[in-house]
Amino acid sequence: MSGEPLLAVRDLAVVIGGRHILHGVDLDVAPSGVTALLGRNGAGKTTTVRAVLGLVPRTGSVRLAGEETVRLPTHLLVRRGIGYAPEDRGVFAGLTVAENLRLAERPGAGEPAYDLVHELFPELKARARQPAGTLSGGQQQMVAIGRTLLNGNRLIIADEPTKGLAPRVVTEVARVLERAARAVPVLLVEQNLALVRRLAGHCAVLADGRTVHRGPAADLLADPDATRRLLGVGRRTAVTEEHPMAPPGPDPSSAAQAGKAGA
Ligand SMILES: Nc1ncnc2c1ncn2[C@@H]1O[C@H](COP(=O)(O)OP(=O)(O)OP(=O)(O)O)[C@@H](O)[C@H]1O
Ligand SMILES: [Mg+2]
Repeated sequence: MSGEPLLAVRDLAVVIGGRHILHGVDLDVAPSGVTALLGRNGAGKTTTVRAVLGLVPRTGSVRLAGEETVRLPTHLLVRRGIGYAPEDRGVFAGLTVAENLRLAERPGAGEPAYDLVHELFPELKARARQPAGTLSGGQQQMVAIGRTLLNGNRLIIADEPTKGLAPRVVTEVARVLERAARAVPVLLVEQNLALVRRLAGHCAVLADGRTVHRGPAADLLADPDATRRLLGVGRRTAVTEEHPMAPPGPDPSSAAQAGKAGA
């Protein structure tokens, strides 16, 4: 990674209800572009993000631009410039696009950066008066990411922005993230490895609440044995050029083959 990490997480631990959910998470977020946080279901990705944001009790070290933040409450972390697009997007379906954005304005953070949001996502300007619930999944993700860009944040954390989206919409969200990462560094929690390959420079992999791998994303994804061992995906899943946007889960190539066999 070139330059000091923007966010440096060391030995992060979270205990909830007596259960050790995280025990030894290390993670560096690069000062530009996309850093991916990977791991199977239940590995501790969301808990890591919530711990960085102070939403769960945690110990260890979380340095943002060199400053220790592990004891700061969430509202101060937000003021330090961390924007969060949560796993469920948190978009208010009954409110318009403009209202969703307005709710994200942060008093005291200076003039909200509508110019930047509208430059990156012209659709949000065009659809300002449309109820967010009537947007496509990709457009809702623009709202979720757009909100994090309004307040001059220096880091955006997006938790599985492509979860449950159709492959075509995944491509749309990839463009959204690409555009956002040109403006602000992004920590991307993701299980779609094709998306990770397209977007991420570096990555960290979690398993059972601890970091089991860190390094350039391209190196990990070029190593089928490592991806299978660390992420539990097969050789043909997601990361081939033939399926540049295939989601994880049931192997789409086997489905295609089954279709061919039946033809
Ligand atoms: N508040 C909580 N109380 C008890 N257990 C929790 C809590 N939050 C998370 N867990 C457990 O901690 C583990 C890690 O959960 P987490 O949501 O961080 O995983 P994840 O990697 O984000 O998974 P997914 O890919 O499914 O989103 C899981 O076993 C989960 O059931
Ligand atoms: Mg999660």
